[in-house]
This record gives sequence, structure tokens and C-alpha cells, in this order.
Amino acid sequence: MKEKIESIKTDLLNDISKVTKPQDIVDIKAKYIGKSGLITDLMKNMKDYSPEERKEIGQLVNNAKNEATEIISNKEIEINNAILNEKLANESIDITMPSTEIKTGAPNILEKVVEDFEEVFMSMGYDVYDGPEVEEDKYNFELLNIPKGHPARDAQDTFYIKDDEILLRSQTSPVQARVMLELGGKEPVRMICPGKTYRRDDDDATHSHQFMQIEGLLVDHNISLSDLKGTLDVIAKKLFGKDTETRFRPSYYQFTEPSVEMDISCFACKGKGCPICKNTGWITICGAGMVHPNVLNMCGYDSKKWNGFAFGFGAERCAMLKYNINDIRTFYNTDLRESETFDRREVD
Ligand code: DAH
Repeated sequence: MKEKIESIKTDLLNDISKVTKPQDIVDIKAKYIGKSGLITDLMKNMKDYSPEERKEIGQLVNNAKNEATEIISNKEIEINNAILNEKLANESIDITMPSTEIKTGAPNILEKVVEDFEEVFMSMGYDVYDGPEVEEDKYNFELLNIPKGHPARDAQDTFYIKDDEILLRSQTSPVQARVMLELGGKEPVRMICPGKTYRRDDDDATHSHQFMQIEGLLVDHNISLSDLKGTLDVIAKKLFGKDTETRFRPSYYQFTEPSVEMDISCFACKGKGCPICKNTGWITICGAGMVHPNVLNMCGYDSKKWNGFAFGFGAERCAMLKYNINDIRTFYNTDLRESETFDRREVD
């Protein structure tokens, strides 16, 4: 038996020395220590031996099996390492190569403008509200004193989702009505609502069928036009620089009476006249006014006890002025070459 084992071992070492690939190891395992391998087979005729011999042979065969297993697994490790080293050598990485540039996005610059507005208004005690972009005619027009058939609707033609009743809001003003109704005519209101708005418009450098407004509403007791003027003056100075001057011109909106438009002194030419302000020295950035009593009453606030002011800024207009962008479509084209020029990482 001993000789037999020795000869098997010699054969094994001989086979092992010829191993070049993982499959050879698999074959060797099967040949020697597999289920019907040469070493395993040695146990097969045990019944022909006496108990003492069985014990001795059993031990010899076991030792042989252990030894063979170790020889094979050492070779296996060796061959796997050799393969890995070869792979590493062939696939070595040249760390001096220039890396591929990965373009990362950044929040749209309009977001920055909106955040700036929110920050100033919140510091003045205003809450920031959100409203639906798919809106009902009732909120977008009727509760704002623009009944069906009113000519003021023509300027705010929009996209209708279902019949004449469900539409994409043409302004953020409907959120005024929603908030007043929510507060039930009992508490003062101080809110702003930035958000997307839509109109049926042909897109060009200054028109877009989608744009953003920043709405504001304050309702309380004994509010006057000078409160409105003072508030908007502070905002203009915070957002466009402390030297900014404001002026208010009479205007017309259906939901405010009286209505005004606010101009700021041109920050580019300081009022001297330049292409940005079309040589007037002034730039219009906001519509506003004292909330119309009809609107207050329809939205649950008794106009004999309550009054207030409202305003609406165009976010794109502010961003275009502030960051010198001359085409409104730039905000929506998602063209990296364009948006890179006003990427907020550069202006933060
Ligand atoms: N919603 C108006 C527009 O789209 C802007 C506006 C004007 C909002 C006066 C107001 C306001 O709240 O009081 O043209």
C-alpha cells in the first residue's frame, strides 16, 4: 500500500509540474482526490483487510489525501496569482493621462433669483406658499375680479386642460385667493408665492409660453399705498443694490385699485440712459396695487374691516437684468453652452 501511495504521489507531483491553467487543477483534483480519484479509490477494498490493517491503511490513505489536497491547493493559489499578476501587468493604468471631463449640472439661475426673493421676504415675516400650476378658472380669473367674458382675459390667454374650467395658470395671483380662503377671513395675510406660469404666447427673446412670477399679498387693517411703496422699495434695494431708486406709475389691474407699476433706476447706467433701460434710466420690474374690495369680499375678507396690497414680479425679467441675459429662452433651452454662461456656481 505504501508503495502504491508513493507512486500515486510521484504521478501527482509530475502532473502538478505541468499545470499551466486553472482547468488543469480541476482535472487533477478529479483524478486524485475526486469521488472516484486514485487516492479515494484506495479506500474501496477495505473489507478485504483485517481490522488492524484497516486502521493503518485508513490512516495512510487519509494522510495521503491531506497531503495531495495541500499540494493541489498550493498550486491552485500559485496559478491564480500568476494569472492575476499578468492581468495587472497588461491592464496597468496610466495615471498621468488627463481625466475625462464630466459635465455637472447646477440649479437654474432662476432658482437663485427666487431664493433671493424668499430670503428678503421671509426676513420681513412673509410665508412662502405653493399653488397648483393646473388651476381652476375660478381662482385664476373669477375670484380675482375677472369674470367670464372680461376683456382683460385676452391678455392672459393660456392653455386649457378641460373645457373652459381647468387651465394652466396664467399668473401666480390665484394663490392670493387660495390663501385668503384658507385663512378664512380671520387672520392677517403676509405671503409670497413664487412659481411657474403659462400663457399662449409665441416664444421669442422676450416672450416665453412658460415663465415664473413671484406673487405677494399682505392683508391687514389700515394698510396704505405708502406701506406698499415702502415694502417694494426695501426689496428693490436688497435685490438690486442699496443705491437703487424706485418710482411708481399708475397702472391697471383688475384685482387691485389703485394699481401701480414699479420701476427701478437702471443699475447699469445709474439713470443716465443705456440700452438696458432703453435710454429711459428706468426699468419696470413689478406690477402691484391695493387689493380690490371685490377680491377681498369674494375671498372671505370683509373689505370694510380689512385691506391690503399685492404685487407680482417677473422672475425671468429680474434674472435677465441682474445677470445680463438677453434671451428669455436661455432659461428653458437646457443648452449647456448657453446655461454655462450664467451657471450659478459662478455667481454665488
Ligand atoms: N398677475 C399680474 C400679471 O401677471 C401681476 C400682478 C400685478 C400681480 C398686480 C399682483 C398685482 O399681485 O397686485 O401681470
